[in-house]
Amino acid sequence: MSAFAHNFADPEKVARYATMGPPAFMPGHGGVLQMAGVLLAETMPDDGQMLVVGAGGGLDTRALAAAGPKWRFVGVDPAPAMLDLARAIVGPEVNARLELIEGVAADAPPGPFDAATLILVLGMIPDDGSKLSILEDIHRRLKPGAPFILVDRCGDRTGPAFERDVDRYIAYALASGVDEATLEGARASQKANQGLVPPERNEALLSEAGFSGVEVFYVGMAWRGWVAYA
Ligand SMILES: C[S@@+](CC[C@H](N)C(=O)[O-])C[C@H]1O[C@@H](n2cnc3c(N)ncnc32)[C@H](O)[C@@H]1O
Repeated sequence: MSAFAHNFADPEKVARYATMGPPAFMPGHGGVLQMAGVLLAETMPDDGQMLVVGAGGGLDTRALAAAGPKWRFVGVDPAPAMLDLARAIVGPEVNARLELIEGVAADAPPGPFDAATLILVLGMIPDDGSKLSILEDIHRRLKPGAPFILVDRCGDRTGPAFERDVDRYIAYALASGVDEATLEGARASQKANQGLVPPERNEALLSEAGFSGVEVFYVGMAWRGWVAYA
């Protein structure tokens, strides 16, 4: 994710994000968003309200809005360029049921919400209490029992497979057609990314933040998706 982080202020690169961003880096990106919609629909009321944390780019909101044609969304993201891109990507129909706020989870309204997502964000947040704070900020905004979707790339920076996994991350994006210059930046930022943690660490953080029923619904190379309940 940090592969994209330094591009948010560059309008040309932001525009390319929709095709050569997450869908080119994460195996089965479209399928993951579709699964998220299916899992959330199990409990979302027809006109329920969802909190989308890290809503920049709009790809997650666009897919979830298709899963629930009457669902309403509040999205937060600290990057104004990414919020602009989200408005453009979701289109007028979804914009009418989407409120976007410049900020982080702590800046979101109290809710309580019927569901929440944190997709391709947590992996670039340092594990110095910041990851836990985000998860707690989301948990306290959910109705009891409401579902939460977490999707991210994982990794053990100190483990023997770390370099190999970065190679695979880059090889996958290369096979998707990502250009050499972007790949170089992606490799450097993944190597430097202090936010990468093993999947077990995310599961421990989910429990610590108050979530239960934590279940893996997606594994794609080093990427993972979980559903958990407030
Ligand atoms: C790779 S994009 C993913 C966007 C979207 N969730 C998706 O799946 O298409 C990561 C987003 O997280 C946002 N972000 C970074 N730090 C954040 C934080 N602390 N809280 C919320 N969003 C954050 C970035 O601005 C960026 O828009």
